[in-house]
Amino acid sequence: MKNISIFISGRGSNLESILKKRNSGFFDASIPFVLSNKEDAMGLQVAKRYNIPTHVFNIKSFPSRNDFEKALLDLLEKHSIDLIVLAGFMSILSKDFITSFGKPIINIHPSLLPAFPGLNAQKRTLEYGAKFAGCTVHFVTANVDAGPIILQDVIPIFDDDTEETITMRLLEREHLLLPEAIKIIVEDRFQIIGRRVIVEK
Ligand code: GAR
Repeated sequence: MKNISIFISGRGSNLESILKKRNSGFFDASIPFVLSNKEDAMGLQVAKRYNIPTHVFNIKSFPSRNDFEKALLDLLEKHSIDLIVLAGFMSILSKDFITSFGKPIINIHPSLLPAFPGLNAQKRTLEYGAKFAGCTVHFVTANVDAGPIILQDVIPIFDDDTEETITMRLLEREHLLLPEAIKIIVEDRFQIIGRRVIVEK
């Protein structure tokens, strides 16, 4: 069975959808711990409710990014983590960290990448005047929000939509998309050809 670690920074609604789906047998994996880079992330309470141990690693309490990432790598190695899932983790992992970890890292982003990478994606999608918004699960590479795309979903934008309504409707899709991507990876049902991730049914 694969060991997954989920990294969060905030609310933890994606974390909860992952834990619910795992508990219902949707995919088979062990989740030895949830990591947050913020002490006050609400998602830490979600992990506790599901009896998953938590770790808080705040980069500010380490002398350097290098020390922070080294401590993180030690923790991942100690638990033999096979996959890192970034579920609303709002900190960038360095190229060295990604290389040293050497196993898949996936991220969920609230836009139809490559459109609107970075922060406030929903707000920028709306303000741009796009007629559709989306969410993307992709492999994490050194370039932010630019790794090979595993899954995407799309929703229409209505005239009376606000940043909040788009965010909420997208979250409903994110809660299906991220567990689906985890299932594909833990079951090893994909190939990467160039930039294309081909999913076997
Ligand atoms: C989600 O909408 C996720 O797509 C986004 O943060 C939110 C976390 O919500 N991630 C990013 O913007 C990453 N660039 P949650 O804490 O309720 O899962």
